[in-house]
Amino acid sequence: MMVVLLGATTLVLVAVAPWVLSAAAGGKNLKSPQKVEVDIIDDNFILRWNRSDESVGNVTFSFDYQKTGMDNWIKLSGCQNITSTKCNFSSLKLNVYEEIKLRIRAEKENTSSWYEVDSFTPFRKAQIGPPEVHLEAEDKAIVIHISPGTKDSVMWALDGLSFTYSLVIWKNSSGVEERIENIYSRHKIYKLSPETTYCLKVKAALLTSWKIGVYSPVHCIKTTVENELPPPENIEVSVQNQNYVLKWDYTYANMTFQVQWLHAFLKRNPGNHLYKWKQIPDCENVKTTQCVFPQNVFQKGIYLLRVQASDGNNTSFWSEEIKFDTEIQAFLLEVLFQGPHHHHHH
Ligand SMILES: *[C@@H]1O[C@H](CO)[C@@H](O)[C@H](O)[C@H]1NC(C)=O
Ligand SMILES: *[C@@H]1O[C@H](CO)[C@@H](O)[C@H](O)[C@H]1NC(C)=O
Ligand SMILES: *[C@@H]1O[C@H](CO)[C@@H](O)[C@H](O)[C@H]1NC(C)=O
Ligand SMILES: *[C@@H]1O[C@H](CO)[C@@H](O)[C@H](O)[C@H]1NC(C)=O
Ligand SMILES: *[C@@H]1O[C@H](CO)[C@@H](O)[C@H](O)[C@H]1NC(C)=O
Ligand SMILES: *[C@@H]1O[C@H](CO)[C@@H](O)[C@H](O)[C@H]1NC(C)=O
Ligand SMILES: *[C@@H]1O[C@H](CO)[C@@H](O)[C@H](O)[C@H]1NC(C)=O
Ligand SMILES: *[C@@H]1O[C@H](CO)[C@@H](O)[C@H](O)[C@H]1NC(C)=O
Ligand SMILES: *[C@@H]1O[C@H](CO)[C@@H](O)[C@H](O)[C@H]1NC(C)=O
Repeated sequence: MMVVLLGATTLVLVAVAPWVLSAAAGGKNLKSPQKVEVDIIDDNFILRWNRSDESVGNVTFSFDYQKTGMDNWIKLSGCQNITSTKCNFSSLKLNVYEEIKLRIRAEKENTSSWYEVDSFTPFRKAQIGPPEVHLEAEDKAIVIHISPGTKDSVMWALDGLSFTYSLVIWKNSSGVEERIENIYSRHKIYKLSPETTYCLKVKAALLTSWKIGVYSPVHCIKTTVENELPPPENIEVSVQNQNYVLKWDYTYANMTFQVQWLHAFLKRNPGNHLYKWKQIPDCENVKTTQCVFPQNVFQKGIYLLRVQASDGNNTSFWSEEIKFDTEIQAFLLEVLFQGPHHHHHH
């Protein structure tokens, strides 16, 4: 009824200020906010809404929440009597897999009616925040250590080892981007140029839950001066008489080499404590470009191997890491015996 009598100016005011029925019109009833954004990143729970009319001061906002199956509303701690248009309810330790419902009202002397926000499940709504990235440079490689932006996150407590990462890297001088997908907490990028600045950014994904995270800030690092000794190349493993034979190529003669191994799954682990490369006893200080060790050194599993050269004064960087699967090696061996050799046994 009142609207009919009002001029254009007031109509505009009404459109801009949905939660207040125009102080100018004499009404003191507050209208509730109609739009609320629920923003969950890792363990951070933020609500945002809009203050529509700056001219009506001293309005505060409060939220209630309700868990599924409950009838009563509970005051949402961290979101009571808020004078701004943003609140943080991260301190409330919710079950992130349980649906909750929120409602908001505006308060001055009187209160507005409640506005109900669509119910949601925190885990479904949550985004993966930017990961933390730490870089180390070699002459032709960059070692990347990635860890979740929120340590010991409650949201991802059951998913910690399921994170994969993808990154974009570019030479700072050229800007030509290369994408690398599906990597784990530890990754090494090879075949780069010495003394060159590279920049990269990383984001996490939880593919089982269809979630792609937010990119980290850009990190840049300059590769070092080219090392005098290049790393060993073309590493290969084969099986001979219950032994593994590891071979590689090297540019110079009269070097000594050492070989190390790591459980491949540790690449997924962002923690530092387990991530220790170990020596293969029969491949320490070898003077040849190969070494031989008994098959039983490795239990069933997938391993990574790397080789380093030394001339006594200098050492090379580590070679590219090769993946070594004992099952596949065993399988190859079986094929060899049961294939061409098979009829010899008859
Ligand atoms: C509060 O609301 C009641 C009923 O709508 C109204 O009579 C009263 O004047 C209001 N008080 C203030 C302070 O706005
Ligand atoms: C608040 O207003 C801004 C600018 O008009 C808009 O971009 C934003 O989406 C609004 N936020 C909400 C929660 O409606
Ligand atoms: C807000 O409250 C303060 C203190 O209670 C008061 O001085 C001020 O006039 C109020 N402002 C408005 C716009 O009502
Ligand atoms: C919010 O304001 C109401 C009314 O002024 C007051 O009773 C209540 O204690 C306040 N709550 C908080 C958390 O400040
Ligand atoms: C929200 O509150 C938590 C603590 O409960 C704090 O760690 C976090 O930084 C806050 N987030 C923002 C965006 O203020
Ligand atoms: C990247 O290149 C820009 C433009 O040439 C330069 O200003 C900036 O300092 C470089 N960044 C780094 C980390 O070298
Ligand atoms: C490698 O060592 C052998 C024997 O010590 C020596 O005869 C040969 O000259 C050395 N080769 C190089 C390239 O240093
Ligand atoms: C190591 O350094 C010493 C002293 O500079 C030099 O005499 C020797 O030849 C070097 N050895 C090798 C293998 O380069
Ligand atoms: C390699 O060894 C030589 C001789 O000991 C030394 O002068 C040089 O600095 C070393 N180079 C590097 C990169 O460590």
